Amino acid sequence: MIINVGSINIDHVYRVAALPKAGETLAAKSYERYLGGKGANQSIAIQRAGGDVIHVGAVGADGNWALEQLKAAGLDTGHVTEVDAPTGHAIIAVDDAGENSIVIVPGANGVIALDRVAAAMETVDPSSSWLLLQNETNATDEIVREGRSRGFKICYSAAPFVARTTLPLLNEIDLLVVNEGEANALAAAAGVSLDALGVPELLITKGAVGAVFQRGAEHIHQSAFTVDPVDTTGAGDTFLGAFLAHYAKGAVPQEAMRFASAASAIQVTRPGAADAIPDAHEIEAFLKERT
Ligand code: RIB
Repeated sequence: MIINVGSINIDHVYRVAALPKAGETLAAKSYERYLGGKGANQSIAIQRAGGDVIHVGAVGADGNWALEQLKAAGLDTGHVTEVDAPTGHAIIAVDDAGENSIVIVPGANGVIALDRVAAAMETVDPSSSWLLLQNETNATDEIVREGRSRGFKICYSAAPFVARTTLPLLNEIDLLVVNEGEANALAAAAGVSLDALGVPELLITKGAVGAVFQRGAEHIHQSAFTVDPVDTTGAGDTFLGAFLAHYAKGAVPQEAMRFASAASAIQVTRPGAADAIPDAHEIEAFLKERT
């Protein structure tokens, strides 16, 4: 089982010809509302890839739409609580190449109650479970330490990257997941090379280049599949969710990475974050076609 303490956002997505520069005002070509949040995206990716996940999170009194979207995606919302803050949201610009820039407003994601996290932890056997977190929710340090003391394996997606949040957690994490930019920022902040960080396992997603899984001296590279992207929002979340769904069930890293690479390749060919995440059947069919 994977317990994911993660953000739930309403994504306001504006299609633009090019991402706005400082001081520039742009008219959007279109506007859509989607379900997002790195946490929710990752939970849905785990679920659709065939993994077992409990999503722990929070929405505000305005969170009905987001809850309905989570349920429609097949997630159990029994550990998503209503708190006294507005539901988190993201303002996302997506350009003609599918690249994005994102501003998040944490809202309810920033006031998840620790006792609700502990209650979710009580429902599973920690010795065979993972605790997954990103950096869009509150109290990550306390939650990681609580999970570790109970015997969970810890997977931390250090996004959005904040050095003061990530550095103190390095000794507590089993698997750290970053994109290439976050990896460089992390190495610079830590003052050592990535190999010297001391994290047992490191997964670096590199967009159109692929991904690398590092465990000690072992470096496993997975190339990205070539596709025509329309929206890359949530591609990293999809990769991580699909990877962890398989890895947590005992797949070897190479196998889990190939599956994850196919999942994110499909996901970027569709608009939106959570809505665009494929299920295991689609992923298997894609892999068969590309082999
Ligand atoms: O990783 C993509 C996600 O980042 C979006 O869905 C947005 O909500 C932000 O959390």
